[in-house]
Amino acid sequence: MNDPTRVVVLISGRGSNLRSIIAAMQNGELPVLIAATISNNAHAPGLSHAHAAGIPTTIIDHRHFTGRAEFDQALIREIDRWRPDLVVLAGFMRILGTDFIRHYQGRLMNIHPSLLPALPGLDTHARAIREGHRQHGATVHFVTENVDAGPVILQVAVPVLPEDTAETLAARVLAEEHRLYPRAIRWFAEHRLAIRDGHVLLDGQPVQKCSQ
Ligand code: GAR
Repeated sequence: MNDPTRVVVLISGRGSNLRSIIAAMQNGELPVLIAATISNNAHAPGLSHAHAAGIPTTIIDHRHFTGRAEFDQALIREIDRWRPDLVVLAGFMRILGTDFIRHYQGRLMNIHPSLLPALPGLDTHARAIREGHRQHGATVHFVTENVDAGPVILQVAVPVLPEDTAETLAARVLAEEHRLYPRAIRWFAEHRLAIRDGHVLLDGQPVQKCSQ
């Protein structure tokens, strides 16, 4: 049997996406091994999910470095110690530099709470309401050098309801994120994803035609 796909997950805070990935793994729905969870924040509540699952954790605190390049290099050294096939950003709220992103090209995934390319950046739920979007959602994508951009693997749309607040909308999107990320990671682990001309293929077909 092949060795399972080794994944390193990076978090900064709550870690509910990490929790959903761990749950999928434990349910036998996700054929991966989470080799380690790394956080830039020693107080990230999400670290408790890794601890509970017996997954090693490391802290690389960005405030201990003089600049982004030094932080990124320290992060690379720590990640590579775990020999990952895939690096998963799950609410990792630091902007990563070009060298970091090139180092993990094609094996670095992110989840973002919007229907990219709409609403990159922060406060996506409040902005979706304020700007009158009728649909909002979440996107899993491979990371490229532009923030919250890169070839889309999966997207899910959620309607914006007239009575929605940023909190109610965020909760509905988050519930979808928890389904989306394990699915995208599973496709990667099953070697079903490829990137061609800046677009993701699933089983050789453009994803938007076969990811419903
Ligand atoms: C998630 O909603 C994720 O999409 C978002 O941070 C949240 C982390 O929640 N990521 C970004 O905004 C990245 N640009 P979690 O810590 O509970 O998984």
